[in-house]
Amino acid sequence: MKKKIDRCGIILAGGSGTRLAPITQSISKQLLPVYNKPMIYYPLSTLMTAKIRNILIISDPKNINLYKDLLGNGKHIGIKLNYKVQKKPRGLSEAFVLGKKFIGNRKVVLILGDNIFYGDNLKEKLIKAASSNENIIFGYRVKDPQRYGVAKINKKGRLESIIEKPKISPSNIAITGMYFYNNDVVKKVTELKYSKRGELEITDLNNIYIKNNNLNLYTLGSETAWLDTGTFQSLSDASMFVMAIENRTGKLVSSPEKISYLNKWINKKQLLSIAKSYKNDYGEKLNIIDENY
Ligand code: DAU
Repeated sequence: MKKKIDRCGIILAGGSGTRLAPITQSISKQLLPVYNKPMIYYPLSTLMTAKIRNILIISDPKNINLYKDLLGNGKHIGIKLNYKVQKKPRGLSEAFVLGKKFIGNRKVVLILGDNIFYGDNLKEKLIKAASSNENIIFGYRVKDPQRYGVAKINKKGRLESIIEKPKISPSNIAITGMYFYNNDVVKKVTELKYSKRGELEITDLNNIYIKNNNLNLYTLGSETAWLDTGTFQSLSDASMFVMAIENRTGKLVSSPEKISYLNKWINKKQLLSIAKSYKNDYGEKLNIIDENY
Protein backbone atom coordinates (compact mmCIF):
# COMPACT_ATOMS: atom_id res chain seq x y z
CA MET A 1 0.00 0.00 0.00
CA LYS A 2 1.25 3.48 -0.86
CA LYS A 3 2.30 5.66 2.08
CA LYS A 4 -0.38 8.19 2.85
CA ILE A 5 0.90 11.74 3.05
CA ASP A 6 -0.39 13.20 6.28
CA ARG A 7 0.39 16.74 5.32
CA CYS A 8 -1.91 19.65 4.68
CA GLY A 9 -1.22 22.77 2.66
CA ILE A 10 -1.74 26.48 3.11
CA ILE A 11 -1.86 29.02 0.30
CA LEU A 12 -1.28 32.58 1.40
CA ALA A 13 -3.20 34.82 -0.94
CA GLY A 14 -3.57 38.10 0.88
CA GLY A 15 -1.14 40.97 1.22
CA SER A 16 -1.38 44.57 0.18
CA GLY A 17 -0.35 44.15 -3.46
CA THR A 18 1.11 47.65 -3.46
CA ARG A 19 3.87 46.80 -5.93
CA LEU A 20 1.31 46.05 -8.63
CA ALA A 21 -1.04 49.00 -8.07
CA PRO A 22 -3.20 50.14 -9.82
CA ILE A 23 -3.81 46.59 -11.14
CA THR A 24 -4.31 45.42 -7.56
CA GLN A 25 -6.24 48.50 -6.46
CA SER A 26 -9.55 46.66 -6.28
CA ILE A 27 -8.61 42.99 -6.59
CA SER A 28 -6.30 40.52 -4.89
CA LYS A 29 -2.99 40.00 -6.69
CA GLN A 30 -3.35 36.22 -6.71
CA LEU A 31 -6.55 36.48 -8.76
CA LEU A 32 -4.82 38.29 -11.60
CA PRO A 33 -4.39 36.26 -14.77
CA VAL A 34 -1.15 34.56 -15.61
CA TYR A 35 -1.86 33.83 -19.27
CA ASN A 36 -5.09 31.78 -19.21
CA LYS A 37 -5.71 31.14 -15.52
CA PRO A 38 -5.84 32.98 -12.21
CA MET A 39 -2.48 33.19 -10.48
CA ILE A 40 -3.63 31.04 -7.53
CA TYR A 41 -4.09 28.06 -9.89
CA TYR A 42 -0.31 27.77 -10.07
CA PRO A 43 0.48 27.30 -6.35
CA LEU A 44 -2.69 25.22 -6.02
CA SER A 45 -1.41 22.97 -8.80
CA THR A 46 1.98 22.74 -7.11
CA LEU A 47 0.37 21.50 -3.89
CA MET A 48 -1.83 19.06 -5.80
CA THR A 49 1.22 17.75 -7.65
CA ALA A 50 2.72 17.06 -4.22
CA LYS A 51 -0.46 15.00 -3.59
CA ILE A 52 -1.74 17.43 -0.96
CA ARG A 53 -5.55 17.33 -0.86
CA ASN A 54 -6.43 19.32 2.26
CA ILE A 55 -5.74 22.96 1.67
CA LEU A 56 -6.41 26.19 3.53
CA ILE A 57 -6.62 29.39 1.52
CA ILE A 58 -5.88 32.53 3.49
CA SER A 59 -6.78 35.94 2.12
CA ASP A 60 -7.86 39.38 3.23
CA PRO A 61 -11.45 40.25 4.28
CA LYS A 62 -12.21 42.00 0.99
CA ASN A 63 -11.16 39.17 -1.31
CA ILE A 64 -11.84 35.93 0.57
CA ASN A 65 -15.29 35.50 -0.99
CA LEU A 66 -13.83 35.87 -4.47
CA TYR A 67 -11.62 32.86 -3.81
CA LYS A 68 -14.61 30.91 -2.49
CA ASP A 69 -16.46 31.86 -5.63
CA LEU A 70 -13.60 30.69 -7.82
CA LEU A 71 -12.74 27.41 -6.13
CA GLY A 72 -15.62 26.49 -3.80
CA ASN A 73 -15.05 23.54 -1.52
CA GLY A 74 -12.76 21.89 -4.07
CA LYS A 75 -14.91 18.77 -4.42
CA HIS A 76 -15.16 19.13 -8.22
CA ILE A 77 -11.39 18.62 -8.43
CA GLY A 78 -11.14 15.98 -5.73
CA ILE A 79 -9.71 18.14 -2.98
CA LYS A 80 -10.94 19.77 0.21
CA LEU A 81 -10.61 23.53 0.49
CA ASN A 82 -10.99 25.62 3.62
CA TYR A 83 -10.79 29.38 3.94
CA LYS A 84 -9.53 31.79 6.57
CA VAL A 85 -9.40 35.56 6.73
CA GLN A 86 -6.20 37.42 7.54
CA LYS A 87 -7.41 40.78 8.82
CA LYS A 88 -4.16 42.61 8.07
CA PRO A 89 -1.02 41.52 6.20
CA ARG A 90 0.96 40.79 9.34
CA GLY A 91 3.48 38.42 7.84
CA LEU A 92 3.90 35.08 6.16
CA SER A 93 4.48 33.21 9.43
CA GLU A 94 1.05 34.34 10.63
CA ALA A 95 -0.30 31.60 8.37
CA PHE A 96 0.59 29.09 11.08
CA VAL A 97 -1.19 31.12 13.76
CA LEU A 98 -4.31 31.51 11.63
CA GLY A 99 -4.05 27.92 10.44
CA LYS A 100 -3.48 26.30 13.85
CA LYS A 101 -6.87 24.63 14.08
CA PHE A 102 -6.82 23.57 10.44
CA ILE A 103 -3.32 22.06 10.75
CA GLY A 104 -4.26 20.07 13.86
CA ASN A 105 -1.61 17.40 14.29
CA ARG A 106 -0.56 17.23 10.66
CA LYS A 107 2.61 18.33 8.91
CA VAL A 108 2.15 21.35 6.71
CA VAL A 109 3.46 23.06 3.61
CA LEU A 110 3.01 26.79 3.10
CA ILE A 111 3.12 28.16 -0.42
CA LEU A 112 2.83 31.80 -1.39
CA GLY A 113 -0.04 32.53 -3.72
CA ASP A 114 2.21 34.36 -6.14
CA ASN A 115 4.90 31.70 -6.55
CA ILE A 116 4.97 29.75 -9.81
CA PHE A 117 6.99 26.56 -10.15
CA TYR A 118 7.33 24.64 -13.38
CA GLY A 119 9.52 21.76 -14.42
CA ASP A 120 9.64 18.16 -15.50
CA ASN A 121 11.29 16.63 -12.48
CA LEU A 122 9.50 18.83 -10.00
CA LYS A 123 6.78 16.27 -9.26
CA GLU A 124 9.25 13.78 -7.83
CA LYS A 125 10.88 16.44 -5.63
CA LEU A 126 7.54 17.71 -4.37
CA ILE A 127 6.22 14.26 -3.48
CA LYS A 128 9.48 13.45 -1.72
CA ALA A 129 9.39 16.68 0.30
CA ALA A 130 5.72 16.20 1.15
CA SER A 131 6.29 12.71 2.52
CA SER A 132 9.53 13.58 4.30
CA ASN A 133 9.94 14.16 8.02
CA GLU A 134 12.49 16.91 7.39
CA ASN A 135 11.77 20.61 7.42
CA ILE A 136 12.53 21.69 3.88
CA ILE A 137 12.91 24.93 1.96
CA PHE A 138 13.94 25.34 -1.67
CA GLY A 139 16.53 27.71 -3.07
CA TYR A 140 16.88 28.97 -6.61
CA ARG A 141 19.82 30.78 -8.16
CA VAL A 142 18.80 34.21 -9.44
CA LYS A 143 20.60 37.25 -10.73
CA ASP A 144 18.81 39.64 -8.34
CA PRO A 145 18.80 37.83 -4.96
CA GLN A 146 18.44 41.08 -2.98
CA ARG A 147 14.70 41.04 -3.82
CA TYR A 148 14.21 37.88 -1.74
CA GLY A 149 15.26 36.00 1.35
CA VAL A 150 18.83 34.94 0.58
CA ALA A 151 20.79 31.92 1.81
CA LYS A 152 24.06 32.47 3.59
CA ILE A 153 26.16 29.37 3.12
CA ASN A 154 29.24 28.67 5.26
CA LYS A 155 32.60 27.29 4.12
CA LYS A 156 31.43 23.73 4.72
CA GLY A 157 28.55 24.34 2.32
CA ARG A 158 25.94 24.37 5.07
CA LEU A 159 23.10 26.83 5.39
CA GLU A 160 24.19 29.29 8.07
CA SER A 161 21.29 31.73 7.99
CA ILE A 162 18.80 33.49 5.75
CA ILE A 163 18.89 37.21 5.26
CA GLU A 164 15.72 38.96 4.13
CA LYS A 165 16.29 41.35 1.24
CA PRO A 166 19.96 42.07 2.01
CA LYS A 167 21.65 45.12 0.50
CA ILE A 168 24.66 42.98 -0.28
CA SER A 169 23.73 39.38 -0.97
CA PRO A 170 25.77 36.64 0.71
CA SER A 171 24.96 34.31 -2.23
CA ASN A 172 22.78 34.25 -5.32
CA ILE A 173 20.47 31.62 -3.82
CA ALA A 174 17.01 33.08 -3.25
CA ILE A 175 14.64 31.22 -0.93
CA THR A 176 11.48 30.35 -2.82
CA GLY A 177 8.03 30.77 -1.34
CA MET A 178 7.38 27.12 -0.49
CA TYR A 179 8.09 25.86 3.03
CA PHE A 180 7.65 22.29 4.35
CA TYR A 181 7.46 21.96 8.14
CA ASN A 182 6.68 19.36 10.72
CA ASN A 183 3.80 19.94 13.09
CA ASP A 184 6.05 21.73 15.59
CA VAL A 185 5.82 24.84 13.41
CA VAL A 186 2.58 25.70 15.18
CA LYS A 187 4.53 25.95 18.44
CA LYS A 188 7.68 27.47 16.90
CA VAL A 189 5.71 30.36 15.49
CA THR A 190 4.76 31.42 19.02
CA GLU A 191 8.46 32.13 19.67
CA LEU A 192 8.43 34.86 16.99
CA LYS A 193 8.10 38.58 17.64
CA TYR A 194 6.63 41.02 15.16
CA SER A 195 9.41 42.68 13.16
CA LYS A 196 10.01 46.41 12.77
CA ARG A 197 7.65 46.43 9.79
CA GLY A 198 5.00 44.76 11.95
CA GLU A 199 5.17 41.27 10.44
CA LEU A 200 5.77 37.74 11.69
CA GLU A 201 8.62 37.07 9.27
CA ILE A 202 9.09 33.72 7.56
CA THR A 203 12.83 34.38 7.53
CA ASP A 204 12.87 34.73 11.35
CA LEU A 205 11.03 31.42 11.61
CA ASN A 206 13.47 29.71 9.27
CA ASN A 207 16.42 31.12 11.18
CA ILE A 208 15.08 29.53 14.38
CA TYR A 209 15.00 26.17 12.59
CA ILE A 210 18.53 26.74 11.26
CA LYS A 211 19.79 27.55 14.78
CA ASN A 212 18.31 24.25 15.94
CA ASN A 213 20.05 22.53 13.04
CA ASN A 214 16.69 21.46 11.76
CA LEU A 215 16.18 22.98 8.31
CA ASN A 216 17.28 21.57 4.98
CA LEU A 217 17.81 23.71 1.94
CA TYR A 218 17.51 22.03 -1.45
CA THR A 219 18.47 24.07 -4.45
CA LEU A 220 16.30 23.69 -7.53
CA GLY A 221 18.37 23.62 -10.70
CA SER A 222 17.71 25.48 -13.93
CA GLU A 223 15.63 22.53 -15.19
CA THR A 224 12.97 24.00 -12.94
CA ALA A 225 11.51 27.42 -13.56
CA TRP A 226 10.65 29.50 -10.52
CA LEU A 227 8.77 32.49 -11.76
CA ASP A 228 8.17 35.74 -10.05
CA THR A 229 5.06 37.88 -10.39
CA GLY A 230 6.09 40.76 -8.15
CA THR A 231 6.58 43.47 -10.77
CA PHE A 232 4.75 44.53 -13.95
CA GLN A 233 7.57 43.11 -16.02
CA SER A 234 7.83 39.74 -14.21
CA LEU A 235 4.03 39.29 -14.17
CA SER A 236 3.94 39.82 -17.90
CA ASP A 237 7.01 37.58 -18.43
CA ALA A 238 5.30 34.79 -16.47
CA SER A 239 2.27 35.01 -18.79
CA MET A 240 4.50 34.88 -21.86
CA PHE A 241 6.38 31.89 -20.46
CA VAL A 242 3.19 29.90 -19.83
CA MET A 243 1.77 30.91 -23.21
CA ALA A 244 4.92 29.83 -25.05
CA ILE A 245 4.98 26.39 -23.38
CA GLU A 246 1.25 25.74 -23.75
CA ASN A 247 1.15 26.77 -27.38
CA ARG A 248 4.23 24.75 -28.26
CA THR A 249 3.10 21.56 -26.50
CA GLY A 250 -0.66 21.95 -26.69
CA LYS A 251 -0.83 21.03 -23.01
CA LEU A 252 -1.94 23.04 -20.03
CA VAL A 253 0.61 24.25 -17.51
CA SER A 254 -0.58 24.07 -13.89
CA SER A 255 -4.19 23.13 -14.45
CA PRO A 256 -5.77 21.86 -11.19
CA GLU A 257 -8.38 19.85 -13.17
CA LYS A 258 -5.72 18.09 -15.19
CA ILE A 259 -3.58 17.31 -12.13
CA SER A 260 -6.61 16.01 -10.30
CA TYR A 261 -7.27 13.62 -13.19
CA LEU A 262 -3.62 12.51 -13.31
CA ASN A 263 -3.75 11.87 -9.55
CA LYS A 264 -6.89 9.80 -10.15
CA TRP A 265 -8.89 12.07 -7.87
CA ILE A 266 -11.45 12.60 -10.62
CA ASN A 267 -12.25 10.22 -13.45
CA LYS A 268 -12.25 10.73 -17.21
CA LYS A 269 -15.97 11.45 -17.32
CA GLN A 270 -15.66 14.16 -14.69
CA LEU A 271 -12.69 15.72 -16.46
CA LEU A 272 -14.45 15.77 -19.80
CA SER A 273 -17.51 17.31 -18.24
CA ILE A 274 -15.36 20.12 -16.80
CA ALA A 275 -13.62 20.50 -20.17
CA LYS A 276 -16.98 20.84 -21.87
CA SER A 277 -17.99 23.67 -19.55
CA TYR A 278 -15.17 25.85 -20.90
CA LYS A 279 -16.05 27.00 -24.38
CA ASN A 280 -12.52 28.02 -25.20
CA ASP A 281 -8.92 26.96 -25.64
CA TYR A 282 -8.63 26.02 -21.93
CA GLY A 283 -11.44 23.51 -22.38
CA GLU A 284 -9.97 22.21 -25.62
CA LYS A 285 -6.60 21.63 -23.97
CA LEU A 286 -8.32 19.85 -21.05
CA ASN A 287 -10.00 17.58 -23.54
CA ILE A 288 -6.76 16.08 -24.78
CA ILE A 289 -6.06 12.98 -22.78
CA ASP A 290 -3.03 10.94 -23.73
CA GLU A 291 -0.30 8.97 -22.00
CA ASN A 292 1.93 12.01 -21.49
CA TYR A 293 -0.89 14.29 -20.50
O1 DAU B 1 8.69 34.81 -3.19
C1 DAU B 1 9.65 34.40 -2.26
C2 DAU B 1 9.90 35.45 -1.21
O2 DAU B 1 8.65 35.70 -0.54
C3 DAU B 1 10.96 35.01 -0.21
O3 DAU B 1 12.23 34.91 -0.82
C4 DAU B 1 11.06 35.98 0.97
O4 DAU B 1 11.95 35.48 1.93
C5 DAU B 1 9.68 36.16 1.59
O5 DAU B 1 9.71 37.13 2.63
C6 DAU B 1 8.69 36.62 0.54
O6 DAU B 1 9.09 37.90 0.09
P1 DAU B 1 8.08 38.92 -0.62
O7 DAU B 1 8.71 40.27 -0.64
O8 DAU B 1 7.63 38.37 -1.91
O9 DAU B 1 6.88 38.91 0.40
P2 DAU B 1 5.51 39.66 0.30
O10 DAU B 1 5.35 40.50 1.50
O11 DAU B 1 5.39 40.32 -1.03
O12 DAU B 1 4.43 38.49 0.37
C7 DAU B 1 4.47 37.34 -0.43
C8 DAU B 1 3.07 36.89 -0.77
O13 DAU B 1 2.31 36.57 0.39
C9 DAU B 1 2.27 37.93 -1.52
O14 DAU B 1 1.58 37.28 -2.57
C10 DAU B 1 1.28 38.49 -0.53
C11 DAU B 1 1.13 37.38 0.48
N1 DAU B 1 1.02 37.87 1.87
C12 DAU B 1 2.02 38.62 2.39
C13 DAU B 1 1.97 39.06 3.70
C14 DAU B 1 3.11 39.83 4.31
C15 DAU B 1 -0.10 37.57 2.63
O15 DAU B 1 -1.03 36.90 2.12
N2 DAU B 1 -0.15 38.00 3.92
C16 DAU B 1 0.83 38.73 4.50
O16 DAU B 1 0.73 39.07 5.70
